[in-house]
Amino acid sequence: MFRGYKDLLGISQLDKEGIETILNSAKDMKYVINQDIKRTNHLQGKSVVTLFCENSTRTRLSFESAVKYMGGMCSGISPSVSSTQKGESLLDTVKTINMMRADAVIIRHSMSGTPEFLAKNTDACIINAGDGMHAHPTQALLDMFTIMEKKGRIEGLKVAIIGDIAHSRVARSDINGLLKMGAEVTVGAPATLLPPDIERLGVKAFLSVHEAIIDADVVIGLRIQNERQKSGLYPSAQEFARFFGMDERRMTLAAPDAILMHPGPVNRGVELTAAAADSEKSVILEQITNGVAVRMAVLNCFLNNQGE
Ligand code: CP
Repeated sequence: MFRGYKDLLGISQLDKEGIETILNSAKDMKYVINQDIKRTNHLQGKSVVTLFCENSTRTRLSFESAVKYMGGMCSGISPSVSSTQKGESLLDTVKTINMMRADAVIIRHSMSGTPEFLAKNTDACIINAGDGMHAHPTQALLDMFTIMEKKGRIEGLKVAIIGDIAHSRVARSDINGLLKMGAEVTVGAPATLLPPDIERLGVKAFLSVHEAIIDADVVIGLRIQNERQKSGLYPSAQEFARFFGMDERRMTLAAPDAILMHPGPVNRGVELTAAAADSEKSVILEQITNGVAVRMAVLNCFLNNQGE
């Protein structure tokens, strides 16, 4: 349990204090992962199962590393080799994992709401590792941790999120968390990739990159989520890159000390040029390391009743 919640389903369940508790814990965890011997005993005796029904590199590996660095036991199962292939429902699969006394199940699924449904029907702590277009809470937490690390604060910063806002669970979770932490958030996208009611969330929306990123302290590029799109939302990858891709020239419109972020995986030459992705302003690689620290913190908070 963490602040009354058995599960981490979305940033919406966390208030500012809850987010700060996790980010502070992640600072300690980052110290651990930077040591030669990466080992704590925070998860000694705890069993965690990763159940990824959608592709992942960063999220899955960072959760699995996090469990191992904290002395826990981690197992992973993929639907392609599980008994769901024999007709078992996902709920029965999770109940099966639950009966093996797993303390937590980390779930990624293409259908929004799947983690919430499983959470209501199992005793184990369910952690949402990304569900459809809905939420990706640990990505938002690692993004906020990276901004804190680089800028020393979130309150009062201008954060611009550029690209496929409509299909992005990262955008929704980032917006939710950043606004709670006192940032000003703008979004920039073609009309077809921008939800019409996005400003109701409390952000300013623009149909051009230039307007969205003026004076931004942080620019977050997003991957085009082709797997969730109907066809015909933009003419071509080249056209998207020309008008909405982040390059070093466009980054000069942001604040002089702006940082460039991206949740990954990056499609080089589409949402970011290779030069921008590898530039001094880019903190994309540090986001990956911070993902491990933040997921260690999340597991510690939820499985060890921290922050009550
Ligand atoms: N950012 C992110 O969720 O990456 P993966 O899909 O590789 O986990």
